This record gives sequence, C-alpha cells and structure tokens, in this order.
Amino acid sequence: MRAISLLLVLSSLAEAVSVGQRRKVVQSFNVRRNRSSDTTPLQVGNGNFAFGADITGLQTFKPYAIMSTWGWHNFSLPTTPGQTSVDDYTGVQMWTHGRLVTYEIPNPDQNDISNWLRENPHRLNLARVGFDFGRDHVTEDDLHYKSQELDMWTGRLSSSFLYDGRPVQVETWADPDSDTVAVNVNSKLLKKGLGLFFDFPYPDKDKFNAPFVGHFNLTSKHSTVLEKLSCHSARIKHTLDDTTYYTHLSWSGHGKIRGPAEGTHRYTFTSTQSDITLIISFSPSAASPHHSTTYPRVTSASRSWWRAFWTSGAFIDLTSVRNDPRACELQKRIILSQYLTAVNSASSSPPQESGLVNNGWHGKFHLEMTLWHALPFARWNRFPLLWRSLPATYEQLLPSALARADMQGYPGGGARWGKMMAPLAAAPGGLSAPGEINALLIWQQPHPLYFAEVEWRAFPNRTTLERWDDVVGATADFMAAYAWWNETGGAYDLGPPMYPVSENTDANATRNPTFELAYWRFGLDVAVRWRERLGRDVPSEWVKVRDGLAPLPMVDGTYAVYEGIEGMWTSNATTNDHPAMAGIYGLLPPPASGKPLDMEALKKTALKIKELWALDYSYGWDFSMLAMNSLRLGDPDQAVEYLLHPIFQFDDAGYPVGGSRVPTPYFPNSASLLIATAMMAGGWDGSEGIVGHWPKSWEKHVRVEGFSPAL
Ligand SMILES: *[C@@H]1O[C@H](CO)[C@@H](O)[C@H](O)[C@H]1NC(C)=O
Ligand SMILES: *[C@@H]1O[C@H](CO)[C@@H](O)[C@H](O)[C@H]1NC(C)=O
Ligand SMILES: *[C@@H]1O[C@H](CO)[C@@H](O)[C@H](O)[C@H]1NC(C)=O
Ligand SMILES: *[C@@H]1O[C@H](CO)[C@@H](O)[C@H](O)[C@H]1NC(C)=O
Ligand SMILES: *[C@@H]1O[C@H](CO)[C@@H](O)[C@H](O)[C@H]1NC(C)=O
Ligand SMILES: *[C@@H]1O[C@H](CO)[C@@H](O)[C@H](O)[C@H]1NC(C)=O
Ligand SMILES: *[C@@H]1O[C@H](CO)[C@@H](O)[C@H](O)[C@H]1NC(C)=O
Repeated sequence: MRAISLLLVLSSLAEAVSVGQRRKVVQSFNVRRNRSSDTTPLQVGNGNFAFGADITGLQTFKPYAIMSTWGWHNFSLPTTPGQTSVDDYTGVQMWTHGRLVTYEIPNPDQNDISNWLRENPHRLNLARVGFDFGRDHVTEDDLHYKSQELDMWTGRLSSSFLYDGRPVQVETWADPDSDTVAVNVNSKLLKKGLGLFFDFPYPDKDKFNAPFVGHFNLTSKHSTVLEKLSCHSARIKHTLDDTTYYTHLSWSGHGKIRGPAEGTHRYTFTSTQSDITLIISFSPSAASPHHSTTYPRVTSASRSWWRAFWTSGAFIDLTSVRNDPRACELQKRIILSQYLTAVNSASSSPPQESGLVNNGWHGKFHLEMTLWHALPFARWNRFPLLWRSLPATYEQLLPSALARADMQGYPGGGARWGKMMAPLAAAPGGLSAPGEINALLIWQQPHPLYFAEVEWRAFPNRTTLERWDDVVGATADFMAAYAWWNETGGAYDLGPPMYPVSENTDANATRNPTFELAYWRFGLDVAVRWRERLGRDVPSEWVKVRDGLAPLPMVDGTYAVYEGIEGMWTSNATTNDHPAMAGIYGLLPPPASGKPLDMEALKKTALKIKELWALDYSYGWDFSMLAMNSLRLGDPDQAVEYLLHPIFQFDDAGYPVGGSRVPTPYFPNSASLLIATAMMAGGWDGSEGIVGHWPKSWEKHVRVEGFSPAL
C-alpha cells in the first residue's frame, strides 16, 4: 500500500511539462542587455566552439574571445642548455612510504622547462570580429538605443543600435555542427562605409587570461595572409610559431575584403548592400570543411538543435511557486546554467573551468573538475553531450596514465590519472602540467568509476559494461596499488604525501582524508560490481584494499578533514577551502560496503561547517556540495539557502562569478548547481521515504520531468 501511494506521489510530481511550457520558461530568462558587460560576453556556440559578443553582437568594443576545442599553441621551447626538450624534464622525487617516487612537480633545477610545460600548450583566441565605423575613436557611447536579446530557445543573438542617427540590426548565430558563426547585418550605413573588421591576437603566458585572451599589438610575432578565393569568399591564414589555422569567410552579395592595415593583422570587409550575411568559419586545415554552409542553413540548424536540446532531457518548472522569490532566482540559474554549459562545456575533450569564454590555467582542463562539468549531462538525461568526451578522454589518456603509475613504481600498476592537461591532440604524451598540487591530488582518480556507474544505471546492458571495462579496471588497479598497508594502524592508508580536495594542507602530513577514503570505497565498490556484472573474476586486491581501508577520521563526534589534523574546528586553518567532508553524504551515496556512516556525526559536521567555515573563501561548487549534503540530511530549505548563498553569484547572463580566488566565469559552479537541482528533482537512492526534496511551501507547485534518482 505504502509503495503504491508513494508511486502516486512521484507520478503526480513527474507530470509532463509541455513543449509550450518549456519554451515559455526558457524564453522568460532570455538575456537582455543595453550595454556591454566588462566581464562577460553573450555567447553563441556549440560546446566545441563559441563566439563571445559585446553589445554590438560582434566584438567591436570588447575583444571577447572566439575559442575552439582544437585551437592550441606552443611558445618556442626554452634554449637553456639541458632544458630544450620536453624529454629533458625529470620531475621531482619525494619520499613516499620509504621509497623515492617521481612526481610531475616543477623541478627547481629545471625552472625553464618546468614553466614551459605548465604554460604550453595554451588555448587560442582565434580572432576578433567587429564593426568598423570608417573613422577612428568611435566608442560604445557613440551608439544609441542599444538593445540586445539572446534567445536561448533558438540560439539567436539579436542586437540593434543607432549610429549617426541610423539603425543597425545584427543577428549572430553559431552552427551546432561546426566552428562557424553566421552574421546578418542590416543597415543603410553599410552603403556609407560601415564595415566589419577581422583581427588576430597573439597569446600570452599568464595563467589567467580574463576577461580577454591574447594581445593585438604583438603583430611582429605572428603573421597573417589574405587569399581572395572568389567574389564571395576569402580565406585568412594565421601562423603563430608552429601553429597554423584558417579563417574562411563567405558573404552574400557584393563585398570586398582588404588588408591588413599597416603594422596590424586587421582586415576590413565592406559591402555596397544594406543587408548582408557572412559566414565565418575556422579550421586547422586550408580546405574549409563547411564551405557550402549558408546563413539559412546555420540559422535553421541552430533553431532545431536548441529546440531539441530544450525539449529532450529533463526539466524543472518552478514558475508556479509564487509565494517564495527564491524559486524564481533558482529557476533563472537553472535555465541559464543549462544554456551556458551546453555552449561551453559539451566539448569533445573536458572543458576548462572558464569554458570557451576566456582562458583559466592556460585553457587546460583539470581532471578533478571533470566530474562537475560532465555529470550534469547525465543527470539531466542528455547523455549524448556527455559521450562527446567520455569515456573517450579516459581511453585516450589511458596509456599515459598506465605509464605514470609504472614510472612511479606502484605494484600492480593500473592507471594513475593526471590532473591539469590539454587534449591529447595538442599535447601528445598525456603529460600532466607540473605542479605540486597537480601531482599530489588524488580525488580525480575515482571519477571514471562514478561516470561508469551513472551510465550503467541509465543503460544497464553489456555495451555499457564493455565500453567502460578497461578504464574501470585500470582505475581500480591503481586505487588498490596506491593504498598503503600500514602495519601499525592495521589498515590501508591514503597518503602521505598527498593533497586532499581542500588544497590547503601540508601534503607531507596529510593521511587518510575523509572524502578520499569514502571515494576510494565507493570506487572500489563500483569496480567490484562491474566485474560481477560482467561475470568475471574480481581481483582480490580490490576487495582486500576496500575492506581494509582506514576508518573515516573523526574529531569530537564530527568527520575531520584528515586523520590527525591539528586544531580541527578550533583553528581557522582547518575551516577553509573546500569542505569536502560534506561530500561523503552529498556528492557520494552512503557506502555500499563496510561500516555505515555515523548519522549523528554527519549532522554535527554539517552544523559545524555552517557555523565555522570560511565560506566567503569558498569556490562556488562548495555551495552545491553543501546543498546536496543538506538534501540527504532532510533539509531542503538549507539546500536552497546554499544554492542562493550571497557568495555563490551568477551575473545577469547567468555566468558564474569567480569570486575571490578565480576569475569569472567559473563553470563548475553552473554544473554543480545543475547536479544539486537534479537531485532535488529526481531524489536519490533511498530517498523514496523522504517527503519532499523541495522547501515545504514549494512542493505542490513544482513540476519536474525526466529525472532519475541520484546514486
Ligand atoms: C539598461 O538596462 C538596465 C538593467 O536591465 C536598466 O536598469 C536600465 O534602465 C536600462 N537602460 C536603458 C537606457 O534602457
Ligand atoms: C606543443 O609541444 C609539444 C612538445 O613538443 C608537442 O608534443 C605538441 O604537439 C605541441 N602542441 C602544439 C599545439 O603545437
Ligand atoms: C615534503 O617533503 C619533501 C621531501 O620528500 C620536501 O621536499 C618538501 O619540502 C616537504 N613539503 C613540506 C610542505 O614540508
Ligand atoms: C598591448 O596590449 C595590451 C592589452 O592586450 C596592453 O596591456 C599593452 O599595454 C599594449 N602594449 C603596447 C605597447 O601598446
Ligand atoms: C545498450 O544501451 C544503449 C543505450 O540505450 C544502446 O545504444 C545499446 O544498443 C544497448 N546495447 C545493447 C547490447 O543492448
Ligand atoms: C600508520 O598508522 C599509525 C596509526 O594509525 C600512524 O600514527 C602512522 O603515522 C601511520 N604511519 C605512516 C607511515 O603513515
Ligand atoms: C586565521 O586567523 C588569523 C588571525 O586572525 C589570520 O591572520 C589568518 O589570516 C586567518 N587564516 C585564515 C586561513 O583564514
């Protein structure tokens, strides 16, 4: 009886949200601007390519970026004797349980090559496209009645303004299937000298390139060549050191392209018609893969792609919750985060934290952040977007991860996943950028097992098992090999040396951090089940290590950051950075093996974090992790409070604000918000008995569709 009535409750919650209603909700959050933002563009894009626009629909006043998955560049290698090649780099040895292990850490005797490896390759800003008003010193203030709308239902960016008393209307679209932006400009000014310019930057070595990427005044360091192909098309070849790529231009009607202007890489396009369309396509090869693309083709492909995006996949409709303004804000974040993660993170290699907006960490991706970035596509039932990068990325990196574990001398080997990386095509060898934290972080290791398990739940068949099997096996092998049998403690220890999720401990003293221990257990549980599902033998080491893992460390009835940490809760050094202990009953499900979690300790830990943690020094995804912990602890109100915490900010266009430690945007925030809200909507294993994953007053008015329970 009870089961039946619960099913009824669930099915009434799961009542369909019609296409018309989805559209209404999505479009109600269409972004409108009347001036350029100083920090974020409005983007059109497809996950592997994005174009960032200012108020003109182009990049006239603000050089926002055009970035791709394939566009990478190296500065020349150092010429310092003994450091002239990647192979010269030796890493650094550290004592690890009585033996010397080589880590990918900057070697103080090899500063130049260490730095080079961190800074190279870096992601390129492909070009800048803007209006040329035919005269110098025009500023945004010279434009009047500026207005702009990004229609998320179709992927159309419409911009308009008056210049010299005459209207200019612009539409900007991205092709869902190629590195192409399509632009339509309508204005009588086009016949009177209004044109478009194309310019090309040279990259820089800074760790963060935000809000803009590259420099337009280092013209002698790179070269461009214009080739006119027909009266409707041209191609600009851009060469920067060893990197070459092409910008393919084609236009409707009469048009002329000339340039570059003296001492620049700036080209100008002018037309004698008052309505023009341009196709601007980028590729590493001279043959344009999309030469036949037309403006109508791009706009219709964009419309269909976005319609399919919004009508497939899961949906949360909070618009009938009228008694609580928090619902509208959460709804806005949910919709904008879906648009922005599709544009910036649905890539064929894992995305950077700043997506395709600008460069953080030289544009490289971080494997420990990949869980945040990619998991929402699974949780919102958009697996094809997840499959763009997974499991392929792990498969591609597998040989280098196996080689890393081998080089580090782990018995039983397996695959030790790197941390900060570029796609294999741009950085052969799968090298992880040298860094002390990079080399000693371990929480990226079980991520493939999380992905595999989530995919299995959606597609429990042999194809799934076989697709992930090599990666699952090699991942678990390393986890078993890495855990160290501590005779004294009579347990398998993690570390030292290591950095836990919170990167602020002494790596040499960090042993048995709570989150990593719980994640090791979770991962080995998944790996064991995987082999059982395949009907194959389970390696005994996996079971032995899992069953012998050190217990989760506790202090005063709470879960501690790591075993033996001094001053837990009493020193502020222990209460800042990521509060990962909350993740063991939030991001992770309770353990399927071993001792159950101590519920009182979980509650007390959550309270202590709320009271004592330096949350203003936290990164945004911490708030989502805390929200998931609150949900499992039965406090959806607190979950919403965390998701709307004043430090967890999103700007007018939904870009996640970086905060005190990282630049804007910081997309793990958007992704984690989607993971947490998917949990509110779909519940989690064992949540069936819990009434309501929403604040009490919302429950009757929330409509959700297409979610499955979280792990
Ligand atoms: C521009 O937009 C802002 C924020 O939406 C609004 O407050 C302001 O009134 C608008 N300005 C004009 C001139 O429309
Ligand atoms: C950068 O240099 C490395 C090492 O020489 C090379 O393997 C890689 O292909 C280069 N990447 C690019 C984008 O040039
Ligand atoms: C940790 O130990 C290594 C030697 O294995 C040493 O080089 C390093 O400075 C130590 N780190 C800290 C933070 O004490
Ligand atoms: C070159 O441009 C950068 C901005 O990209 C600016 O900071 C720098 O001052 C400029 N240098 C010169 C010599 O103009
Ligand atoms: C397993 O599920 C996936 C996704 O539905 C499907 O594409 C595949 O064909 C299935 N494989 C088998 C062997 O049923
Ligand atoms: C082994 O475990 C004991 C007790 O749990 C601990 O004090 C000790 O530091 C551990 N040994 C090493 C080398 O980590
Ligand atoms: C901890 O408190 C001390 C004294 O108030 C302060 O100087 C220090 O910056 C704080 N540390 C952190 C990590 O917040």
